[in-house]
Amino acid sequence: MNRDLEGKSIIVTGGGSGIGRAAALACSVAGARVVVADIDAAGAEETVSAIRRAGDDAIFVATNVADEEQVEALVAAALGQYGRLDGAFNNAGLSQTNLPLHELTAAQWRRIQSVNFDGVFFCMKHEIRAMLKTGGGAIVNTSSTLGRVAMRSAADYCGSKAGVLGLTKGAAVDYGDRHIRVNAVLPGAVDTPMVQALVSDPQFADLIEKIRASHPLGRIGVPAEIAAAVVWLLSDKASFVTGAELAVDGGFLAI
Ligand SMILES: NC(=O)c1ccc[n+]([C@@H]2O[C@H](COP(=O)([O-])OP(=O)(O)OC[C@H]3O[C@@H](n4cnc5c(N)ncnc54)[C@H](O)[C@@H]3O)[C@@H](O)[C@H]2O)c1
Repeated sequence: MNRDLEGKSIIVTGGGSGIGRAAALACSVAGARVVVADIDAAGAEETVSAIRRAGDDAIFVATNVADEEQVEALVAAALGQYGRLDGAFNNAGLSQTNLPLHELTAAQWRRIQSVNFDGVFFCMKHEIRAMLKTGGGAIVNTSSTLGRVAMRSAADYCGSKAGVLGLTKGAAVDYGDRHIRVNAVLPGAVDTPMVQALVSDPQFADLIEKIRASHPLGRIGVPAEIAAAVVWLLSDKASFVTGAELAVDGGFLAI
């Protein structure tokens, strides 16, 4: 069994569903003590219960990542419970509004940016403050293949995820000399409630087949495949990796 995160204390945002839940479970299996953060208490409690049933250690901290005070409290709770913060997977996110750019209201735009972009900034700011006190750590941010290329009616999402890549590189450059590595994972289409909600929208009825066909591996991914990359990036096995964009996308960006 891979115990590459043995004893590390790790925050996972959006840990109540999909990729975040899979990552929280995988971090735990790899030996980490996990702080599951989400606005969805029921989903997050389910993740924590699954970890505890396996005999491992996790806590839930209700957090809206778009609210800096709540993020500060999340990091304080992690420090209170485990004494230090070694890693973080900043993954909470919202799907696009599904409107072309000129139809987006300011409120719709802000809703997506506040979670997908501001949320990653707030998380990194407070996580890095904690990591600086204990000599370093590792952060992984969830961007998307749509941070690199676009699809229709998703400019709000694409913009937010491209922003995450810039934030990731900026932090990697600022904190490399203080032993904090910061990387981004770029999932292709992954079978989670987010994608299930998108393809259940009648205007996207034939989308799932198109999505499959656009991935050279001929299928969409499963959350555990993203989680495996996240565990590696958080672990000391990735000790010379920082500022990287790791596509875990079935080849989507290679076309
Ligand atoms: N599923 C995909 O195909 C795919 C592809 C590329 C990138 N992503 C990204 O991966 C991440 C996870 O997506 P997923 O597919 O697992 O989606 P999901 O909807 O299954 O999970 C997202 C989780 O984030 C939580 N969340 C939403 N807003 C929050 C907030 N303000 N504060 C705290 N938690 C919040 C939700 O409650 C949920 O538990 C997102 O950032 C998403 O943009 C997903």
